[in-house]
Amino acid sequence: MFLWLTGFLLVFLLRQADALSGQRPYELVVYTSPHPSSRLRSCVSLYFRETQPHKGLPLDLGAYISHRLPSPLSPGGGYPRDPASQSEITKYLSFNKTLLWSKALDVCGHPSTWSQSIFLDENLVDDNIDLAKTQQVLTSPVPPSGSVIDRVPSLDIVPLILSGPSANRVDLVFFSDGYTLEERQKFMEDAQRLADDISSNHTFNTVKPLLNFWAAFTPSNESGIGTGGKPKDTPFGLYRDGTELRGVYYSKPDQARAACFSMGDKCNYPILMGNDPLYGGLGGEFTVITPSLANGALVLRHELGHSIIEVGEEYDGGFAYFGPNAAPDVSAPLPWQQWLTYPPAPNSSPRIERSVMPLQNYAWTLLNTSSPWSIEFDSSGLYSRYVVRFSLSGVPEKEALDVEFDGGNLGWTPRKDIGVDRWHYDIRLNEPLPEGIHEVKFALKDKALEGTAQLCSVEIMEFGDETQFNATSGYYGAFPTFSEKNETTIRPTNEDCLMRQVTTPNFCKACLEGLWLSLLSRVNLIDEIHAGCIKAPESSSSGAWRRTINLKLVPLAEYRDETVDAKESYHITWSRAGKVLDQYTNKTTILVDDEVGVTYSTSVRFATEEVRVDEHGYLQSAQDFTLVSKCDV
Ligand SMILES: *[C@@H]1O[C@H](CO)[C@@H](O)[C@H](O)[C@H]1NC(C)=O
Ligand SMILES: *[C@@H]1O[C@H](CO)[C@@H](O)[C@H](O)[C@H]1NC(C)=O
Ligand SMILES: *[C@@H]1O[C@H](CO)[C@@H](O)[C@H](O)[C@H]1NC(C)=O
Ligand SMILES: *[C@@H]1O[C@H](CO)[C@@H](O)[C@H](O)[C@H]1NC(C)=O
Ligand SMILES: *[C@@H]1O[C@H](CO)[C@@H](O)[C@H](O)[C@H]1NC(C)=O
Ligand SMILES: *[C@@H]1O[C@H](CO)[C@@H](O)[C@H](O)[C@H]1NC(C)=O
Ligand SMILES: *[C@@H]1O[C@H](CO)[C@@H](O)[C@H](O)[C@H]1NC(C)=O
Repeated sequence: MFLWLTGFLLVFLLRQADALSGQRPYELVVYTSPHPSSRLRSCVSLYFRETQPHKGLPLDLGAYISHRLPSPLSPGGGYPRDPASQSEITKYLSFNKTLLWSKALDVCGHPSTWSQSIFLDENLVDDNIDLAKTQQVLTSPVPPSGSVIDRVPSLDIVPLILSGPSANRVDLVFFSDGYTLEERQKFMEDAQRLADDISSNHTFNTVKPLLNFWAAFTPSNESGIGTGGKPKDTPFGLYRDGTELRGVYYSKPDQARAACFSMGDKCNYPILMGNDPLYGGLGGEFTVITPSLANGALVLRHELGHSIIEVGEEYDGGFAYFGPNAAPDVSAPLPWQQWLTYPPAPNSSPRIERSVMPLQNYAWTLLNTSSPWSIEFDSSGLYSRYVVRFSLSGVPEKEALDVEFDGGNLGWTPRKDIGVDRWHYDIRLNEPLPEGIHEVKFALKDKALEGTAQLCSVEIMEFGDETQFNATSGYYGAFPTFSEKNETTIRPTNEDCLMRQVTTPNFCKACLEGLWLSLLSRVNLIDEIHAGCIKAPESSSSGAWRRTINLKLVPLAEYRDETVDAKESYHITWSRAGKVLDQYTNKTTILVDDEVGVTYSTSVRFATEEVRVDEHGYLQSAQDFTLVSKCDV
């Protein structure tokens, strides 16, 4: 049930199901976008609720943690940057509600000026945070038309892959858009296929025990997604700008926010899935995808990488490079120095692999047969090899398109069974480019494909020889990445990461380590501790009964259902009143006397080859357990 108060104050009654023992902090999330007529940012939306613990947050009521996420771009880059994609998300966490509420006022101004939608957890509405006053202020204004939320869409929620209680997991939800009631089964199958694809044998496979996947179905009145900037009659109003395969945008963000918010701990990362078979998507507050057979999983894992690991791009031509896979240069130790194949000698920097990008163009242009699309670039002639990298959609046959380089045909052939969907191609030439002007040309041959055939992007990169540029997969070093302004940042590998090459199924080790740390900052390795009673042998000095204390751990290492290649271990220690109980090291069940008021402490440390540096101790959890009653009463 939820209440809608005029003036956009939405109060949700959230029942925190299966919450673990231990105090839960509060979370404030503020979405801002650039103000059209001033340099200030305006608040677009605000969430305020109780949330899952964060291991980095001190219990101290004077403390909070915050982080700001620029809204990341979409896979492939070069999308138009509309105001929505320039929105920023700032998250604050604290155990002090008053402190968070004052942050909300700091960022969004006095509530009398608010016109954004506000999502509040019912149990936060009390005198402590001055909300009573706020409500009075908010009861008068009539919401501008078009921004009213009628209701949370009806959600038919089905688990896809569950690993544990949502209060102690990171939960991803697929929401349906453009699937009619008759297409419910198709939605469930699409969602299941994508969840399986990104977690079964690659990408999120090793961290799967920290994740839950859900499908939340809302029937649409119309099937499919909108085109030409016009949404259809669907719950979240997804649409494409034109008809070409590119971004997929949403027109009802408040509906999507309400849907995710209403699910509480079950919705950490919302995914809006538009019922369209071809490429498209968007990153940011919501991950927008299509179930395209060729591209759905590619877009999904790339965008989730942005959201969960909090990394920027790795491909050339982007504008945001940050996180564990990016460094401005090699002057300071690299964030991935623990992964370098050849650690540099003390007081020296790693070598920067020798390459340059003489051409980068996100054309996103429809091709025609009257005149080819072509572009020239200048080469210095100083490199040993080069690659022509491009992506196309709407060209199913090789006869339909000639890709030419300096007048010669590059012999492009489409990916098998790609049809009209988008795909990425690399044509590598193991010879130097002569100094001077060169030309790449895309000549459409089949008139029937006009209006469909599209050149999405084209890039030329030149490389030094094997001693100057190590292109081998598995080599960790310092590779230059070139932004849309041709500014250089450094990345760890040549092409090992799906944040660079969306067709690569895996993250590089730096990103994967970031993924573990991000997830384990929110997941307690201990799912549950409970006590039991067993009859002790006659000889026992403490009477007839003994207690068992049982630890239920998140199923990693030897407790996994399915094994993984990476070596992992759990190290468990127990103590009683501060004294270590050596005999119980690495045991999940211990046997102790039946006494009241004794406190046992357990501390658990997880290790995996995929994490080499755990600065904040996120791979550890500890818990006290006090026996409060006797078996024999
Ligand atoms: C909670 O936050 C408020 C506002 O910042 C502050 O005045 C108060 O002292 C904090 N409470 C505690 C116990 O630190
Ligand atoms: C994962 O499994 C699928 C289907 O069995 C297979 O096509 C794919 O190559 C596998 N990926 C990896 C990285 O092993
Ligand atoms: C479908 O149409 C009905 C009647 O016009 C409307 O009330 C409802 O909100 C629509 N549902 C969606 C998901 O758009
Ligand atoms: C980027 O800068 C490098 C070095 O200045 C230059 O050689 C290259 O042509 C530039 N690329 C583009 C696309 O401007
Ligand atoms: C055909 O494509 C070329 C290259 O993109 C463009 O310059 C031209 O305007 C297009 N012609 C038509 C008739 O659309
Ligand atoms: C290139 O990287 C591979 C894989 O890490 C390594 O074995 C090889 O020695 C490197 N080559 C050079 C020339 O550094
Ligand atoms: C407990 O497990 C850890 C991790 O596998 C191991 O290093 C340690 O030796 C074990 N200790 C005992 C006493 O078994």
